[in-house]
Amino acid sequence: MYRFVLQLLAVALPAVASVVQTCKRLDAQIPGRVFYPDSTTYNSSISSYYSGQERNLNPSCIFRPTKTSEVSQFIKLVTDCGDTKFAVRGGGHTLWTGAANIDDGITVDMRSLNGFDLSKDHKIARLGGGAIFSDVYPKLVPFNLTVMGGRVPGIGTGGFVTGGGITFLSRRHGYSCDNVYGYEVVLASGKVVYATESSYPDLWLALKGGSNNFGIVTRFDLATFPLGNMWYSDLSYNYTDSVLLAHAKAFSNFMKPVNYDSAAMMGVFLYYTGQGFGVSDAMWYVEDVANPAVYDAFTKIPNLGGTSELATVDKVVETFGENLPATTGRSYQLTLTFQNPPAAIYTELFQIWEKRITALANVKGLFIEFLLQPQPVTNGTNMFGLAAGKTDDVLIDMTAAYDNESDDSLVASVINDIVKKQRAFLKSRGYLLDFIYLNYADISQNVLSTWGKTSLTKLQAVSKKYDPKGVFQKKSPGGYKLFK
Ligand SMILES: Cc1cc2nc3c(=O)[nH]c(=O)nc-3n(C[C@H](O)[C@H](O)[C@H](O)COP(=O)(O)OP(=O)(O)OC[C@H]3O[C@@H](n4cnc5c(N)ncnc54)[C@H](O)[C@@H]3O)c2cc1C
Ligand SMILES: *[C@@H]1O[C@H](CO)[C@@H](O)[C@H](O)[C@H]1NC(C)=O
Ligand SMILES: *[C@@H]1O[C@H](CO)[C@@H](O)[C@H](O)[C@H]1NC(C)=O
Ligand SMILES: *[C@@H]1O[C@H](CO)[C@@H](O)[C@H](O)[C@H]1NC(C)=O
Ligand SMILES: *[C@@H]1O[C@H](CO)[C@@H](O)[C@H](O)[C@H]1NC(C)=O
Ligand SMILES: *[C@@H]1O[C@H](CO)[C@@H](O)[C@H](O)[C@H]1NC(C)=O
Repeated sequence: MYRFVLQLLAVALPAVASVVQTCKRLDAQIPGRVFYPDSTTYNSSISSYYSGQERNLNPSCIFRPTKTSEVSQFIKLVTDCGDTKFAVRGGGHTLWTGAANIDDGITVDMRSLNGFDLSKDHKIARLGGGAIFSDVYPKLVPFNLTVMGGRVPGIGTGGFVTGGGITFLSRRHGYSCDNVYGYEVVLASGKVVYATESSYPDLWLALKGGSNNFGIVTRFDLATFPLGNMWYSDLSYNYTDSVLLAHAKAFSNFMKPVNYDSAAMMGVFLYYTGQGFGVSDAMWYVEDVANPAVYDAFTKIPNLGGTSELATVDKVVETFGENLPATTGRSYQLTLTFQNPPAAIYTELFQIWEKRITALANVKGLFIEFLLQPQPVTNGTNMFGLAAGKTDDVLIDMTAAYDNESDDSLVASVINDIVKKQRAFLKSRGYLLDFIYLNYADISQNVLSTWGKTSLTKLQAVSKKYDPKGVFQKKSPGGYKLFK
């Protein structure tokens, strides 16, 4: 027994000890940026992750760079320190364990790299690689401009833009990543490059979906779009058969190409708590138009009221954010994509959910949302392998929030069962698409391979070219990695 413990120590200790050594070297090289457990900065960084899974991890230290050169110094140092692993963190909104945090490694908290700059012609907003969208919107509102960012407070550029990004403007302009002019990136060698359509074009394209596989992005140069007031409404309904049927019909019609309105983006939320079921719609319109006719079929369903306002985007983000949990104890999420089917198929998807979700009735603190949402209308400037200009793709985002780790396996098995049945049903009717949206996926979903062989091969080639030693594959293990 005693010997066994000693052996364990012999194996476990040197790695951790050497990470602490790396932290100390980093601290000596770049004083004032390294924070150790029990410091206020370390604590507040850890406690600001969205999910309990991420808050449960304990890096040996947290590095908070304030400029690109410090990120470069960090990469050079950490690649020189044999077994030190690291994680990169933006807004910290990914749900699953280890996406943007790490046990016994170094977490790079990018949020001090939050620069903001608007080009002279106002066409490009240059945002730091750790900027938070809800801090950026108020700076653009006075110009009647916006960028393609998150729809609730706290979402970071780093994860959102590199993983796609679904926004209020996505029906008109695609994913956030389709609209990035340039990325300043620190590569595995520590070299800083600026990737655009004309310089490092392969890297530029790979970063449009490639997540954290190619480097640490220290600046995003995003296209700006005119936006003054927009319309936002959130209506709640009783969860009844007639309300569900009306939604199945209204949503299927809304998604038909003949009804396509590029200003309209919405979500239908079916939700469930231990207390019961509910339905609500979030409806957005990126023009200064109240009650646009495109939503009539929804707003005419007898409802329990809710918000309806013309407001600037920063206010809409605040208001919509109040509908979702600000943080979660535990969470789990799966996603799927399909082509818009007739109403009867939606009804079947609702029933598959409704029949099985009650198995979670006793899960403490449960809040489940089954979100139906139009896919962005992309022009194809990304790695997703989706058809350009297609207006009638839909995604489901099934997310559970709850209190206690001891419910993890039950929640995961019920959500997996529902999604498996929904996929099988959609497949049998010819509507299922392979594509999995990275930013709504669980790590168990094989995201990158669903974008098609051509995309995966390209991503792998770009990784071999810019990161020949596989630093972002092996030393930064959190994320959807390119080589299995
Ligand atoms: C409440 C809520 C609302 C959401 N709303 C939306 C929405 O409206 N639309 C949408 O599309 N998605 C939405 N999401 C999903 C969101 O897009 C993803 O969680 C996204 O990854 C968040 O980015 P982040 O920087 O906050 O995340 P993090 O968890 O910090 O990072 C995500 C990943 O990106 C990597 N990364 C972070 N910064 C960098 C960087 N600078 N360089 C390289 N890699 C980096 C990390 O290593 C990590 O793997 C929502 C999520 C939540 C919880
Ligand atoms: C940091 O958090 C730990 C654990 O919650 C707590 O014991 C400690 O007092 C905190 N330290 C500071 C400086 O906030
Ligand atoms: C923004 O739009 C509002 C409403 O149309 C207008 O009154 C204001 O002058 C605009 N501001 C700028 C800077 O263009
Ligand atoms: C898609 O849009 C982006 C941003 O406007 C642009 O850079 C790109 O060239 C467009 N691609 C196509 C195929 O139209
Ligand atoms: C919702 O249900 C409650 C309770 O059954 C009922 O009193 C109310 O009238 C219903 N509201 C609508 C809009 O259907
Ligand atoms: C979590 O569940 C375990 C096992 O059921 C229980 O012992 C514990 O008290 C629960 N914790 C909380 C915070 O509810």
